[in-house]
Amino acid sequence: MHITNDTSTPLIIAHRGGSHEVPENTMAAFRHAIDLGMKLVELDVQMTLDGELVVIHDETVDRTTEGSGMVGGFTFEEIRKLDAGSHFDPKYAGEKIPALREVLELCASEGVGVVVEIKDPNLYPGLEDKVVALIGEMWLRGAENIWCISFDHEAIRRIRQLDATIPLGYLYMPDQTDFAQPDDTIQAYCPYYVTALQHPEQVAKAHEMGKLVLVYTVNTEAELRALANSGIDGMVTDEPSVLSRLSL
Ligand code: G3P
Ligand code: CA
Repeated sequence: MHITNDTSTPLIIAHRGGSHEVPENTMAAFRHAIDLGMKLVELDVQMTLDGELVVIHDETVDRTTEGSGMVGGFTFEEIRKLDAGSHFDPKYAGEKIPALREVLELCASEGVGVVVEIKDPNLYPGLEDKVVALIGEMWLRGAENIWCISFDHEAIRRIRQLDATIPLGYLYMPDQTDFAQPDDTIQAYCPYYVTALQHPEQVAKAHEMGKLVLVYTVNTEAELRALANSGIDGMVTDEPSVLSRLSL
């Protein structure tokens, strides 16, 4: 596990590859993050009708492609025909919804870590098993730094039952302020960044338990500066080109 607890230099993680700068969750986005020198990217995983793990935030393709319908209603071949770049900028026309495998392979080849967010596990029976199998395969091929996080804590516990070693984290909604509950399953708590600012005692409690605090989603210099003394260990950002130039 390469995510460290060096609180003097919080990690900056490119959220969906950097979704204010590039079409989110596309290969172009992850290449952009890599070109910026990011050491970690975050992505969202869902599953197609025929069981392929794909990288897309929403449970439908409507917002980020010209298509319409549930991700789980498309075969992989069908979903790959959709354009996942033009919604952001016509210059990205032809970007596809990536397979999780493609992104993990790219990042592994570049020595970049990946925070995999498990989305909507209840929609996709067997999703956790497939994610664990793929990460295990990637580790055999030399990838080292792949995490799984989710708002669905049951899914994270299921992953832990399947695999004792994948670093894991629980995500918390903004109204979940008492996040630092003792739990042997995970290595990281992932609250909303304002929660970490307003509840320093929770950050301290997490650290007392030897856990990391990775917050979402920090997009401005002012937000970054506000977190200067919070003790958090890392943050995701939609603006990696801005935040990666700054330091606390
Ligand atoms: O990293 C956590 C963050 O990605 C959770 O929110 O909706 O952007 O996936 P969302
Ligand atoms: Ca996410």
